[in-house]
Amino acid sequence: MKKAIAISSGAAALCLMVTPLLAEPDDDSLVINEELQMVTETEAPDHLEYVNTIYSGWRFRTDETQALQLDDFDNPAMLTVDAAIDAFNTVDGSEGKSCASCHAGPEDFAGLTASMPKVIDGKLVVMEDLLNNHRAKAMGAEPWKWSGQEMQGMVALIGLQSRGMPVDVAIDGEAAPFWEKGKEIYYTRYGQLELSCANCHEDNYGNMIRADHLSQGQINGFPTYRLKQAKLISKHNRFRGCIRDTRAETFAEGSDEFRALELYVQSRGNGLSVETPAVRQ
Ligand code: HEC
Ligand code: HEC
Repeated sequence: MKKAIAISSGAAALCLMVTPLLAEPDDDSLVINEELQMVTETEAPDHLEYVNTIYSGWRFRTDETQALQLDDFDNPAMLTVDAAIDAFNTVDGSEGKSCASCHAGPEDFAGLTASMPKVIDGKLVVMEDLLNNHRAKAMGAEPWKWSGQEMQGMVALIGLQSRGMPVDVAIDGEAAPFWEKGKEIYYTRYGQLELSCANCHEDNYGNMIRADHLSQGQINGFPTYRLKQAKLISKHNRFRGCIRDTRAETFAEGSDEFRALELYVQSRGNGLSVETPAVRQ
């Protein structure tokens, strides 16, 4: 439910694109592998000013797409996750080490994804940073490409260890300036269409935009497997796509702007279950 109907002047263009459905998300309940109950709807965190209830993007998808997330055997993301399990055990780099040389298994990282991004040594760090720094320092291995399937497969494998746990990123203390920056980006209107993230994902969720049922743009299920692209999509890749749709220049994957935006968007989902890896249209 929305707290207020925002009057957004520059959103005239949006009025032409959006078909009001006046529909809240559907009432389906997400239970994975018939045992893991997910929180796909909960009270918005206090810092959200215009939204009372937050919803997972899963609630806005068609029954066919939703079904692919109900059972890991049907979830197409799991092939890439399996490849990441192999990579975990494979030696790479000049030090002759695999992840498994130092870590018992991916289970060691239970809970980590629910608290990411976070500030380490004064820098805002996302999972891709942790992995590439680590590959360079601990293994002497080449960095992985940000949105490549090796990187996103490992991000998904680590995320899977937190599946079902509530998203809980810190936004105070050292994280506060990064969070403020991310919030500013979220409410900035970009491109010829002069649209902010909020114009679509806060003012218009539940409505149809072209053929898509607009969600709140949550990232609790990332990396997500997109059926359209037949691969795992990183958060920053999704941000780029959304900004490009407003016909604007966009920030790069791995830019400080997208790190800050990731923290802010993640904090809008505090309380939803980590759903990694989710499946989307
Ligand atoms: C030479 C040993 C070594 C290798 C090889 C290694 N790690 Fe690590 N890893 C560590 C140590 C020690 C830490 C904890 C200190 C730190 O964060 O640097 C750590 C921390 C981490 C963390 C952060 C955990 C947290 O709670 O903050 C992740 C994620 C991680 N490793 C993943 C991997 C992955 C994935 C690989 C393979 C691509 C890998 N590591 C290879 C030694 C290693
Ligand atoms: C013109 C409207 C529009 C704008 C502006 C927009 N998006 Fe989106 N976004 C969409 C549509 C349409 C989708 C696909 C349907 C859905 O999942 O909501 C989407 C999907 C997403 C998703 C995937 C959600 C999921 O559950 O997989 C994320 C994350 C997202 N947007 C974030 C953002 C962010 C951050 C911004 C601002 C930088 C932004 N969007 C700006 C229209 C927009």
